[in-house]
Amino acid sequence: MPQRHIPQSKTTHADTPNKMRRAKADDSTATFTFTVNGSSHTLSLDPRTTLLDALREHLHLTGTKKGCDHGQCGACTVHVNGRRVNSCLCFAAACDGDTITTIEGIGEVEALHPLQAAFVECDGYQCGYCTAGQLMSAVALLDEPIGPSDSDVREAMSGNLCRCGAYQNIVSAIQSVRATKPSSK
Ligand code: FES
Ligand code: FES
Repeated sequence: MPQRHIPQSKTTHADTPNKMRRAKADDSTATFTFTVNGSSHTLSLDPRTTLLDALREHLHLTGTKKGCDHGQCGACTVHVNGRRVNSCLCFAAACDGDTITTIEGIGEVEALHPLQAAFVECDGYQCGYCTAGQLMSAVALLDEPIGPSDSDVREAMSGNLCRCGAYQNIVSAIQSVRATKPSSK
């Protein structure tokens, strides 16, 4: 069972206070613009709205899942400016000007991302609730300086929990894709 912690590469926004100041806010709403999966969106929301809720409830991108809603499970993982983050821990308004990628942005049914195909091939899921978050972490991991072993991958994926216990197959899927990318560290 992997340790329960958020990898250092997976954090909330470091410059959240500045971003929150840049987003236009009145007493009840903050107005901000970000790009999600290549499309620009301007939203006016309660400034306390998390990125996760903005994506799911306001942009109807429900592929990103809410598990614990406080940074413990990784089900809500998305990319902000190429880095994986727990979207339940980010204020949406703090993402003003940012580029966000969700599970809907990494592949199509007819053109799966190599990791999506590998998860299918290696049986890397059961109920699938954690799978979007697992995949978003795994996609980011391909460009992170982690070691080559299975235990290195387990450590890098330790912020993503799977109640079904598909961990070994998830590691196998990730390693099968890493093996095809000689530039991976
Ligand atoms: Fe965000 Fe669990 S829903 S970490
Ligand atoms: Fe069910 Fe991971 S596949 S929680």
